[in-house]
Amino acid sequence: MQYSLGLDIGTSAVKALLMDQNGEIVAENSEGYLLATPQSGWAEQNPEDWWEASQKVIKDLISENEIDNSKIEAISFSGQMHSSVFLDKNMEIIRPAILWSDTRTSAECEEIYERVGGIEKLAELVSNPALEGFTAPKILWLRNNEPENFKKLEKVLLPKDYIRYKLSGELGMDLSDAAGTLLCDVKAEDWSAEMMEKLELEKSIMPPVLKSVDIVGPVTAEAAEQTGLSTSTKIVAGGADNACGSIGSGIIKAGRVMASLGSSGVVVAQTDQAKADPEGRIHLFNHAVPNSYYMMGVVLSAGMSFKWMKEEMFNNELDFEQLNKEAAAVAAGSEGLTFLPYLYGERTPHADADARGVFFGISGKHQRGHFIRSVMEGVSFALKDSLELIKARGVEIDEIRLIGGGANSELWQQITADIFGETISLINIEQGPAFGAAIIAGVGAGVFSDFESIVEELVEVVKTVEPITENVKKYRRNYEIYQGLYGDLKDRFKDLK
Ligand code: XUL
Repeated sequence: MQYSLGLDIGTSAVKALLMDQNGEIVAENSEGYLLATPQSGWAEQNPEDWWEASQKVIKDLISENEIDNSKIEAISFSGQMHSSVFLDKNMEIIRPAILWSDTRTSAECEEIYERVGGIEKLAELVSNPALEGFTAPKILWLRNNEPENFKKLEKVLLPKDYIRYKLSGELGMDLSDAAGTLLCDVKAEDWSAEMMEKLELEKSIMPPVLKSVDIVGPVTAEAAEQTGLSTSTKIVAGGADNACGSIGSGIIKAGRVMASLGSSGVVVAQTDQAKADPEGRIHLFNHAVPNSYYMMGVVLSAGMSFKWMKEEMFNNELDFEQLNKEAAAVAAGSEGLTFLPYLYGERTPHADADARGVFFGISGKHQRGHFIRSVMEGVSFALKDSLELIKARGVEIDEIRLIGGGANSELWQQITADIFGETISLINIEQGPAFGAAIIAGVGAGVFSDFESIVEELVEVVKTVEPITENVKKYRRNYEIYQGLYGDLKDRFKDLK
């Protein structure tokens, strides 16, 4: 038997998934860690915690499942995107990593637009807008706010690159993650010299660019000791968590779209052409599948809005089944009650860290069920915003796959189909990005011949949900109201700040 190991360095935990040569999942394991918020809007983690958790998950997975480590052909990685690991000349951590969800860098985003000369030029250079979560603004923040730390800066890595470095001793960043730094020319597949120059950053702070399937070397003897891996296991570069999640959902060919109702929500479409949105509303990143790209819209609080409602609004008095039952008893459109899910600001289509959640149109007739349903509807409207932007880029859509925790709710499946006005497919795979990382490990090491054959074999559609015509019509009107509200309230959000 030959195994491939996938390791996902997530925001709440490291997850490991071991797959055999037939693509069967043999073992899984995870280990959590803390997230620090030293100031409001800040989110930091210690890269050492990721490494300790990684050592433990791998070691325990091997020993508890009595795996012969010499049979683990390859390991690869998935990781939270954008989060900055700052290293000094001895490759020691300079300060805690600033995470993708951290919003401290608004001034640096402005600075980037000024230095580069506006969104169109930025989209031309790096195919994406300057957003608080991305890596380049974090590097400028370090320069502007912690000059002593900036002086020490030798290399910038992303979370999974740091773990790959600890295992292999080799520095690198794969394209799918480099694309999310705002320093990479997505089309040219390399760091943008013009961008580095405009930001006055040394090109040497970025590591060599890798392809996701590149083998960077074997596990070092020291790392083998620390993790229980064998020094014969090949280390394969890996990809950004959204790229790996897309592989695990079969989003590897044109026409397929994934909409996820996870804590945050994403809408991802594979595309063969690197055509950036000149207004920068939708992201364009390199895929982990070679010579391929994906467009992505991000809804920052998708499942998180539902969780907030369950826990904070209704004090955990109702379980998921009861919440679904009460929402299902209310007609489509929640009798005009409209929810904007901007609890922690928004990414797509409104890149606005100051936006906040709204219930609009509350009247005396509204009861608890209306609030529950309107939260689900508001999140699906937010996903539709991203879907419409992707369509507007000329991407043909044949199939939309709904994934993530919220996709387990039959009601939410129907609401999404009705709001999108499209058939929704459900798939058999519930594992997250670690599954995609294990596939990358297998493809990189030659256990699997290519992405397409293994992914098409493993990932299947198990159910489809058709939109209900009457609801589609109703939601068209509600969507107009939903869309108008952000523009109406934009300045008020700033006042609130
Ligand atoms: C993507 C993004 C998040 C993180 C989560 O742009 O910021 O989805 O990748 O780990």
